[in-house]
Amino acid sequence: MTAVADRSLGPELIRTESIGEADVLVVGLTSSDDGPAIAPADAFEDVLDTDTRETLLAALRAVGAKGKPEELTRVPAPAGLGVDSVLAVGLGALEKVDAEQIRKSAGAAGRALTGVGTAVTILSGLDLGAAAEGFYLGAYQFSEFKSGKSAPKPGDQPVQRVEFLVPDAGFGEETFFRAQAVAEAIATARDFVNTPPSHLYPAEFADRAAELAKAAGLLVEVIDEKGLAADGYGGILGVGKGSSRPPRLIRITYAGGDTKVGLIGKGITFDTGGISIKPAQGMENMTSDMGGAAAVIATVLLAARLSLPITVTATVPMAENMPSSTAQRPGDVLTQYGGTTVEVINTDAEGRLILADAIVRAGEDDPDYIIDVATLTGAQMVALGTRTPGVMGTDEFRDRVARISQAVGENGWAMPLPAELRADINSKIADLANVAPHRWGGMLSAALFLKEFVPEGVQWAHLDVAGPAYNTGGPFGYIGKGGTGVPVRTLISTLEDIAAE
Ligand code: BES
Ligand code: MN
Ligand code: ZN
Repeated sequence: MTAVADRSLGPELIRTESIGEADVLVVGLTSSDDGPAIAPADAFEDVLDTDTRETLLAALRAVGAKGKPEELTRVPAPAGLGVDSVLAVGLGALEKVDAEQIRKSAGAAGRALTGVGTAVTILSGLDLGAAAEGFYLGAYQFSEFKSGKSAPKPGDQPVQRVEFLVPDAGFGEETFFRAQAVAEAIATARDFVNTPPSHLYPAEFADRAAELAKAAGLLVEVIDEKGLAADGYGGILGVGKGSSRPPRLIRITYAGGDTKVGLIGKGITFDTGGISIKPAQGMENMTSDMGGAAAVIATVLLAARLSLPITVTATVPMAENMPSSTAQRPGDVLTQYGGTTVEVINTDAEGRLILADAIVRAGEDDPDYIIDVATLTGAQMVALGTRTPGVMGTDEFRDRVARISQAVGENGWAMPLPAELRADINSKIADLANVAPHRWGGMLSAALFLKEFVPEGVQWAHLDVAGPAYNTGGPFGYIGKGGTGVPVRTLISTLEDIAAE
């Protein structure tokens, strides 16, 4: 078994005060009615003096650079600059440039700089943290399963080293440390999501997560199928029983303070739908149905790395949803951990069944906050599109998480839990049904199902990231094809916000 950490190694990130031995200089380019301008406009004079700036800008204008967001223009370097070429990356209009735009533009540069040894950038003069995150994430590639002729040639491999110009040696030390840690956590989450279901099944997922957590000195508990049966985890067992690869529940604790946060992530290593089987078209994308689990595992490790003064426990149910003669049937009744009975009307609404068990278990820790993350419903994408997480939960905390998610550029949006939808998940024979008899507000009725298992008085947020966790389209900004790592940044910033209370 290879450690996931080994695959996560992206470019080396360094702070520097000079151009040194770099091959490429990356500058920002803002747009305006008077034409493009190099950004930042007034920083690093000793690296890029006024004359060289003017020569460079003239060269960029000559080849048609406009400074539009994420536009990429590469020109030979002006004489004496000490690099071979300059890559200008568009930022759009100066007054609209925020941290997320810098992250996206740095990401576009990181993607474009394949085959490069060392790049050095002045984007750090705009926002060091955002530039570092963007470069690292843009340069991320997952090529573990590319062999022989299809393996990336040297010219297609990610930039090896990115240097960020800073005004003095001590500048931005903490910001840089955090940005690197966040970017690496996102890469860890992406690696998990990008690992195919042939190789990542519940036992293997739990092993890999446990290995990372133990290496970080965290408390780990893995419950196997026998333990799950002994303790009555009927939701996880019901979903997992159609597969020859048995389910798991893993718990990882970072104990850093009195305030307790429970994180829960949906870990369906593959979702065929079960007996309520999905259509073949696009089913391969259900390799991403453990994106919530990947994000919360990466986040608890990150909380430890950042030494947050709170206690964070990730409770992660893992199962493979398969159809077989041992699979649960539509119409079966299962007993969730804690005793609630559920009529399984549709075996494809499996996420809420494993999450319900995990939420009840997390509640036993007496947490102040519970955040669950799941690729839960296709309805999330119908409501909000593929890039906007739905945020539900208790009113105040839901709004807080959505606000934070907006601020970090993951753009989660608060959604209601309309009371009238609750009766639609009543069952004739059990305490609850796992689906409503209609498709209206599918993201919301899934959340209403989960709400039944959240302990009274706990602040709760539920993030549905069915679309945002996995990019099935082309690359954009700092996001490539496949796992995106969403919502790791929302989660870590929420934990930091709680820690700062
Ligand atoms: N994993 C899916 C949701 C999903 C769909 C995630 C597309 C990412 C992309 C989930 O388990 C599921 O199948 N949900 C059903 C629920 C329905 C049966 C009530 C859905 O959304 O169709
Ligand atoms: Mn499903
Ligand atoms: Zn699913």
